[in-house]
Amino acid sequence: MTGSAGAPRTALCLVVGSPIRHSRSPLIHRLFAEQFDIALRYEKREVAPGTLAEAVVEYRRLGVRGINITVPLKEEACRIATGHTSRARVAGAANVLTLDEPERLEADNTDGVGLVRDLLNHAIDVKGLRVLLLGAGGAARGVLPALLAAGTATVTVANRTASRAEALVTAFAALGALEAAAPDTRFAQPFDVILNATAAGLVTANGPTFSRTALAETTAVYDLVYGHLETPFLAWARACGVERRVDGLGMLVEQAAVAFERWHGCKPVTAPVIACLRTRL
Ligand SMILES: NC(=O)c1ccc[n+]([C@@H]2O[C@H](COP(=O)([O-])OP(=O)(O)OC[C@H]3O[C@@H](n4cnc5c(N)ncnc54)[C@H](OP(=O)(O)O)[C@@H]3O)[C@@H](O)[C@H]2O)c1
Repeated sequence: MTGSAGAPRTALCLVVGSPIRHSRSPLIHRLFAEQFDIALRYEKREVAPGTLAEAVVEYRRLGVRGINITVPLKEEACRIATGHTSRARVAGAANVLTLDEPERLEADNTDGVGLVRDLLNHAIDVKGLRVLLLGAGGAARGVLPALLAAGTATVTVANRTASRAEALVTAFAALGALEAAAPDTRFAQPFDVILNATAAGLVTANGPTFSRTALAETTAVYDLVYGHLETPFLAWARACGVERRVDGLGMLVEQAAVAFERWHGCKPVTAPVIACLRTRL
């Protein structure tokens, strides 16, 4: 890893998960590194659940500086860490591990700040707004504290399994105004922002699996999911006349930018990277 005298030292970083083949993190980090002429080797590694701690021992021996964590290892990453940022501790899940000191393994969760930054990229400032968060899995857990910290008026969490939404609301009740609702609730007033943080399309041939009363044409709709085609959720919002529709590609890049800055000490410009990824979806 270390070059000859005078040559730049190559930083080694990884993304781990299972499956991992689909990950776009290597491309994102390579594009960031090019902005600063940082010599970076960034690789994907398949890691089975339950084996992350032993994998990290090996990564430390190889001189790995930072590790991005994807499904299904985010909770496990948080458990094996020796130190936590407050947002990782609150979320109970980590998408970033940093190995910059011997014996220390710092867990961070940058999903929430990544989402809030990308909402701002699209001129959606959640301060004072009523937000509906669909889903109560790992992604919802990661973004909820950041939404509340950004000053939302209320966040309503709706999930297929009601008990998971209720558990999330109980866990984060001290952080801001929160409530749980069944997805088919008839809402008296549409929301300012709706976020899809489920792993499902939420829209079937028969329409959405949550109440249409949640939505008005003025609602901003954000799908954490992204792909080369418009997501079913965003297509449905378009058919409902909603103009502000955003997918999760920008969040992916923004959460990576926070990790990159932590590992390399330079803040990358994200807009060209988001644009480049868009052409490669
Ligand atoms: N853009 C980004 O940077 C980014 C970052 C993180 C995650 N994501 C995306 O966010 C999504 C959620 O990820 P996650 O880690 O939270 O997954 P997860 O922990 O497995 O949670 C899945 C969530 O989806 C719900 N769900 C699954 N199938 C459903 C269906 N048929 N109908 C209604 N709800 C359904 C689950 O509800 P139950 O509780 O009822 O099972 C749960 O709330 C994924 O698509 C992921 O790719 C994007």
